[in-house]
Amino acid sequence: QSSMSYERYTAELTNCIIAFLSPILPTEEEYRIKEATRRQLERLAAKVSPGAKLLAFGSMANGFALRNSDMDLCCLINRSGDQEVHPSASELVEMLSKVIREETDFNVLALPKARIPIIKISRGSTSELPYEISCDIGFENRLALENTRLLLSYAMVDPPRLRTLVLFLKVWTKRRKLNSPYTGTLSSYGYTLLVLFYLTHVKRPAVLPNLQRIPPTRPLAPEEVELNGHNIYFYDDMATLRKDWQSQNTENVAELLIDFFRYFAKEHPYSREVISLKTETGMFGKDAIMWNAELCIEDPFQHGYNVSRTVTKDGLYTIRGEFIRATRILQNRNQRVSAQLAELCE
Ligand code: GTP
Ligand code: MG
Repeated sequence: QSSMSYERYTAELTNCIIAFLSPILPTEEEYRIKEATRRQLERLAAKVSPGAKLLAFGSMANGFALRNSDMDLCCLINRSGDQEVHPSASELVEMLSKVIREETDFNVLALPKARIPIIKISRGSTSELPYEISCDIGFENRLALENTRLLLSYAMVDPPRLRTLVLFLKVWTKRRKLNSPYTGTLSSYGYTLLVLFYLTHVKRPAVLPNLQRIPPTRPLAPEEVELNGHNIYFYDDMATLRKDWQSQNTENVAELLIDFFRYFAKEHPYSREVISLKTETGMFGKDAIMWNAELCIEDPFQHGYNVSRTVTKDGLYTIRGEFIRATRILQNRNQRVSAQLAELCE
């Protein structure tokens, strides 16, 4: 076994990763039930504010969902109406949560006073509906809709490799308890940005192009370029891109995963650099605008905003320790690949 060639080993590990993920991907039925729930909630939102829309963002909309992942919904208010004053996000939270309580059997938690006012709703699974629903509704969070669209576009450039890597890392970070922003580690969104950074800016030849730096091929409307003072442009003509952009990189998922762990275990200059997808090199020095967090990942659209601000010193120590552990496990080739994956995610 240990004499197996590296190519054969990584090919086998790749197949094993794909087989490992397949039973934990969402089913068609799960998507249907979630979409029906979204429509039901949208009807209630329209009662509160005529013309309101509820749009999915996050993993249910960006192609990186696992089975039973939470639903992220964003409520957009119709501002073209003749109403002079529009309710604030806090008022909308109060009004919509009341209607959802009255007209559905969801558990409802309203957080009108939070920094970002949201409604959290949930429902356990029943014998008729064997799906738990857990959903956050936010208001007017258009940047989240745009970054969801960016992630979805990347997912379409190199679907098999990017998607498999992100999904595997999501499972791994959840099983190893590295995915809890509230207790000092990183969100799924943050890990997804790490993978995009690695595939676009670290790996050579690059697996992905930098969509934020490909010039547009058509004139753009102002609202395609700017949102609330943020530059939200990225190249989104996927039909053309899939014809024009062929990565010279032929590494398989396992090779990329092993090197991803190695890079973030040993090589990444955590203390010096800010990761920033939109830049030419993917990084800039921390001193540039006084970044001083342990781990710095600039949001692709929100200039100066650290997506990894939740990561504490201890949190980063734990995460890096896990990258080192993962590197070690994948180096031990006396084990079968299935046993390696099991140990990795135990
Ligand atoms: P799972 O819920 O674990 O399946 O992952 P997810 O892909 O839904 O990611 P997550 O729940 O971490 O984030 C959901 C969405 O919220 C992301 O796709 C972003 O659109 C948005 N989001 C999350 N965290 C941030 C943040 O720190 N900054 C900004 N701007 N958006 C964020
Ligand atoms: Mg989510």
